[in-house]
Amino acid sequence: MDLNKIFVALDYQNFDDTKNLVETLGDDFKCYKVGQPLYTVAGNEIIKFLKDKGKRIFLDLKFFDIPSVIMKAAENLVKQEIDFFTVHSLAGSELLGEIAGIVKDSKTTPLGVTILTSIAESKIADVLLIEKDFDQTMKILINRIIDSRIPGLVCSPKEIDLVRSINTKILIVTPGIRLEKDSVGDQSRIMTPGEAMKAGSNYLVMGRSITGAQDPKQIVEQLKSIVI
Ligand code: C5P
Repeated sequence: MDLNKIFVALDYQNFDDTKNLVETLGDDFKCYKVGQPLYTVAGNEIIKFLKDKGKRIFLDLKFFDIPSVIMKAAENLVKQEIDFFTVHSLAGSELLGEIAGIVKDSKTTPLGVTILTSIAESKIADVLLIEKDFDQTMKILINRIIDSRIPGLVCSPKEIDLVRSINTKILIVTPGIRLEKDSVGDQSRIMTPGEAMKAGSNYLVMGRSITGAQDPKQIVEQLKSIVI
């Protein structure tokens, strides 16, 4: 498969481990996701490091705050030409709509987070305090993202069919990816890379399958050999 369709989730807590992995993977990977663990310890340093290497950056801070605050953060990311960033769709249509306005005509693509891939379907009422069932909740969030003109969303690969039944064009980014022999960890709604791409994902997010591997280069070869 095309490795440019995979964002490697750099969920490290220090710059050195991050640098080691990015340098080990070399030219094989162009796309990296920086999330809260790494951003809170080496935010600007890591952005500069990845930019200097010509990598694409997905900044996954999952914004959820009042619109006036998030708007300022989104403006900063547009100025820095960050490729992708995330905002919780649960934070509401007003915020999503304003973000869509700010990124218009820029190089930055916001993605609406739907329901975290670690939340099991049976736990949705408990965690999100929502009475509706899983599919109903997903449909509301997907429609909210589309109606707000946010160009992409993050969901588990299990929900790709549902998203595509509502909209054929929206960009779908799926974490919750595991190789056959991997442990599931704290993820709940998962698929293999090949299955997720065949199901219609545009980009995959892969963290521990690569960062936790004894030999990440061997995983690279395994991923390259996947036929979609
Ligand atoms: O290690 P693993 O492959 O499970 O990492 C998944 C990555 O995707 C993590 O960085 C996590 O923050 C992110 N993510 C997720 N579920 C979402 C959105 C992002 O697991 N809904």
